[in-house]
Amino acid sequence: MSTTEHPSESGAPVTARVRDLAEHVGAVVTVQGWLANRRSSGKLHFLQVRDGSGVVQAVLRKGAVDDELFKELDTLPQESSLEVDGTVKADERSPGGVELGVTAVRIVGVAEPYPITKGVDGDSTDFLLQHRHLWLRSSKQAATMRVRSRVIKAIRDFFDGRGFVNVDGPIFTPAACEGTTTLFEVDYFGESAYLTQSSQLYAEAAAMALGKVYTFGPTFRAEKSKTRRHLTEFWMVEPEVAYAKLDDVMDLAEDFLVGIIRDVVADCRADLELLGRDCDALLAMTRPFPRISYDEAVQLLNDNGHPFEWGGDFGAPDEAVLTKLYDKPLLVHRFPAQVKAFYMKRDPEDDRVALCVDVLAPEGYGEIIGGSERADDLQFLLDQIKLHELPQEAFEWYLDLRRYGTVPHGGFGLGLERTVAWLCGTHHIRECIPFPRMLHRIYP
Ligand code: 4AD
Ligand code: MG
Repeated sequence: MSTTEHPSESGAPVTARVRDLAEHVGAVVTVQGWLANRRSSGKLHFLQVRDGSGVVQAVLRKGAVDDELFKELDTLPQESSLEVDGTVKADERSPGGVELGVTAVRIVGVAEPYPITKGVDGDSTDFLLQHRHLWLRSSKQAATMRVRSRVIKAIRDFFDGRGFVNVDGPIFTPAACEGTTTLFEVDYFGESAYLTQSSQLYAEAAAMALGKVYTFGPTFRAEKSKTRRHLTEFWMVEPEVAYAKLDDVMDLAEDFLVGIIRDVVADCRADLELLGRDCDALLAMTRPFPRISYDEAVQLLNDNGHPFEWGGDFGAPDEAVLTKLYDKPLLVHRFPAQVKAFYMKRDPEDDRVALCVDVLAPEGYGEIIGGSERADDLQFLLDQIKLHELPQEAFEWYLDLRRYGTVPHGGFGLGLERTVAWLCGTHHIRECIPFPRMLHRIYP
């Protein structure tokens, strides 16, 4: 849909967004934006104007505006804000297929010398993170944010279109879901509360009320990890389905990822290509995805010169070896119960393993989804809560779900930023959330 405004009654040019300019070839429009870059050749200024939807080259001839303004534009600092009126001209060599023949320029705000300049020593990642509020203006960062926004819509469209009800879990929670070592504790009117690690337990309650539900919101982990895939605050979507078995959970995860890829490539091809992504390789990731058991994965690791002992959880290096063997996301199921959460159902065929699945994204991106069939037996859960030294009273409500009409059920959690990082080919997940929160980083 075009975002162009209607022509004003005064006959002033319509305001158009850069991404829609191709629809206006031959017309005079106004672009409202910022000066991204500038080049001059005496009688001509080539202004790169960005407006958040793209960048257009605005060509200004000496004489088209008054001399004083022409001179000022020769030195106008990067990131000054300005409105440019101009005729939209088709130009095959330009990125968006058009350029602007400038007829008027109005400077809105003259910028101070812009701190982010390519090639300056200061542009280290630390410096950029400290200036995240400005770094977001860079073309790759803006492209990543547009992809993130489209992934969010794809997530909602997928579940909304399949009869799932969106219920959100609370952010303040009385207890752990994914282990007590990664909890952020907050003072809740004199009592201890924790920022949510996962809405799963609440999604389970809602699934018993509504059948198919999903939660989608911010999630917190006080991990003291400094890896390229850990944030302390990230977004997770968690579908939960009554009567679902592990195979249903895996089918759902597969369909879900295929749907996200299709939607995002359809609408964000230019952004993905700007980020260096091969969209056709993404589209080639169709069903079925490879599915292997943890046992098979351990065997594969050892066969590929990467010694690994049965019983441990996979870390990033292990996942990297496994994912490089496939060009599609890989589903690994039935991990040892000892490395997984208390709520997972055991495999009736082998009590040592849980009916769970991790989905590992290709090219070493690794785990983007963790899910399972849930334990549906009251006594089993009571035993697990003891074994994991969890406070039973905080889980009484959860145990009620097994007391009042227990059924098999399952679901998964997908980390939004890890998914965006994989789709965009971003090395570090911190660039996939507008304002990252990490170990020792809470500014800006
Ligand atoms: O594997 P996790 O811990 O699973 C759960 O929380 C389940 N309760 C989900 C469920 O079954 N409803 O986390 C799920 C996903 C991971 O696969 C990963 O994508 C993401 O959440 N994730 C993180 N993303 C960024 N930073 C972190 N510190 C993350 N921890 C998990
Ligand atoms: Mg996990």
